[in-house]
Amino acid sequence: MTKKRILIMVSGRGSNMESILNAVADGQIAGEVVGVISSNSEAPAIAKCDQRQIPCSVVDRKTFARKADFQQALLATVDGYRPDLICLAGFMHILGAEFISRYRNRIMNIHPSLLPSFTGLNAQEQALAYGVRYSGCTVHFVDEGMDTGPIILQAVVPVYQDDDAASLAARILVEEHRIYPEAVRLFCADRLTIVGRRVIIDQGGKVNG
Ligand code: GRF
Repeated sequence: MTKKRILIMVSGRGSNMESILNAVADGQIAGEVVGVISSNSEAPAIAKCDQRQIPCSVVDRKTFARKADFQQALLATVDGYRPDLICLAGFMHILGAEFISRYRNRIMNIHPSLLPSFTGLNAQEQALAYGVRYSGCTVHFVDEGMDTGPIILQAVVPVYQDDDAASLAARILVEEHRIYPEAVRLFCADRLTIVGRRVIIDQGGKVNG
């Protein structure tokens, strides 16, 4: 199987980026990370790429007055990497329609809630404010909506009565770092098929899963 070309897009810390880089380095994923794009010139993720000698392009949102110009620059930079899979990992911008249609079913995102609950920003605060007993994280394909695309994997964590947003976020993050590389692994092994809103995972001959 030919290795998939993986591009990761970030805006900040980059811990999910690292979890994917680690899984690729460990040989768990039939792919190579061909590059990283940061939308923020001050993102800590950039130094992490430098340490690992992963090419990192900065397309800094702050330097574009118009959103449309940012989107065009982003798309041109992405195209230059010729990615098979784009992983949004703490990427803090909505992608334009042209971007999504060009890379349809080849863009993934990780969101720190059990979708379809608590879309958008501050998902952990939203979960606490709502009073749910369980939350978690979701890896999904990206469509035109906000956190609405077909769900690939989810993981559940309990919400405790003394949680604050930071403690809940930390518990969820452990699961993010587990399921995002797993979703990338499945994609790169050609084991994901989208049927309507559902993502069917090829179980490799095993029954039910
Ligand atoms: C994660 O909680 C992710 O679910 C959300 O943004 C955060 C990014 O963290 N989309 P990191 O930059 O991967 O450390």
